[in-house]
Amino acid sequence: MELAAQGVVPLGGGTRLLASAVELPNLLDLVGLGLSAVHVEDEDLVVGATATLQDLVESPLAYPATAGLLPLACRTAAASRTIRGMATLAGEAVQGDPDSELVAALLALNAVFTIAHPREPRESPALRFLRNPTTDLEGGGLVEKVLIPGAPHGAALERVAALPSLPPLVSVVVTTTFSGERLSRVRVATTGLTGRPARVAEAESHVERTAGDDEVLREAAELVARAAPFRADAEASAEHRRQLARVLALRALRGAVDRGRRRQPPDIPRLRPPASHRGAAPLANFTSGRLDVTANGRKLRVDAEARTSLLDLLRGAGIFGAKAGCGAGRCGACTVLLDGRAVASCLTLAVRAQGRTVLTVEGLGTSARPHVLQTVFAEEGAIGCGFCTPALLLGAKSLLDAVPNPTEDEVREALTGLCRCTGYVKPVRAVLAAASRRER
Ligand code: FES
Ligand code: FES
Repeated sequence: MELAAQGVVPLGGGTRLLASAVELPNLLDLVGLGLSAVHVEDEDLVVGATATLQDLVESPLAYPATAGLLPLACRTAAASRTIRGMATLAGEAVQGDPDSELVAALLALNAVFTIAHPREPRESPALRFLRNPTTDLEGGGLVEKVLIPGAPHGAALERVAALPSLPPLVSVVVTTTFSGERLSRVRVATTGLTGRPARVAEAESHVERTAGDDEVLREAAELVARAAPFRADAEASAEHRRQLARVLALRALRGAVDRGRRRQPPDIPRLRPPASHRGAAPLANFTSGRLDVTANGRKLRVDAEARTSLLDLLRGAGIFGAKAGCGAGRCGACTVLLDGRAVASCLTLAVRAQGRTVLTVEGLGTSARPHVLQTVFAEEGAIGCGFCTPALLLGAKSLLDAVPNPTEDEVREALTGLCRCTGYVKPVRAVLAAASRRER
């Protein structure tokens, strides 16, 4: 906190800060603080500041505690599993896209932010904190955890985006809580506004204390469209956003009311076994020096600066399988496995690999003894442009290591974001073929 108060920039997952063009002379790596747990305390979901979006997708606790909303919002906010495995919930709340449906979901879930501060610790409700996070963090404050109080009975998230991987033009998030047959609490939050995502109090109070009949929901959707200050920009006019909001709000209200009324428990997808670790780099304080990294079974001793990325470290050591694409976490071409977990090496500080094991495509197999994935990729013609192939192979390997018999949906989810151009048809077919070959 003292360092943060002096202006050292706190770093969580790195997917926003390291991807930005902003000069970062000093970084304070928070991963070493051990704040990545997700647990339930007195019926509240407690999410540590450095828990990643993927930690929430894979937490069996996060589904019942949020009527399925938080894991769903994490998935839609970051389509790529690799990026979800790095981006933290707190980081997204503070630094995330201004149109983030994740921020809207935190509003609709009445999240409370616990902030450690050198002057005095504080708790800030989402309604206040998310309007302008810097206000509460000024003077050295750091988010310590995010609390989601008492689960709603129903929830829904509806969005429209130009591409699934882009921030939504508009999204509407609704949570409902019933008391008997009547709605005791309704939260409606929307994105696509002139400012950050916001709740629409007019729509909420219109539905509260009613039974949630369709006519009332229609009127509430109309209120969302009329009351919220939708934005006009190059992507859509304010009127277009308003019309989208009307439709999305009605869908979200109907969904959340229906699920809440039936007290329908959320579907929990098959979850991968928990990752073996996500330890801090054992170097608490690093400005420059030697790092010991095992890459593809080879022990490396390499010089690095604090800001050196894992991608630069690997390529500097002559390992070119990880491709240097966008440098911003968008193309996936730099994906490597760090102790078995897929990470975007362009956004991973080299120091985080200290004492750990990295696998790139060079370590997967050789021409003489290819890995089964390499064999089937060749057989199925799943090579595509070649630039993305190392990432696709490694994403597939991390999936098959955790889930030997994946469904097609699981394969699609694992590969999303690793190729930026094709329909993924052949890579998906190849991974399923590799899985059945390994099964036999
Ligand atoms: Fe790392 Fe594009 S995601 S280079
Ligand atoms: Fe290589 Fe899509 S980026 S085929």
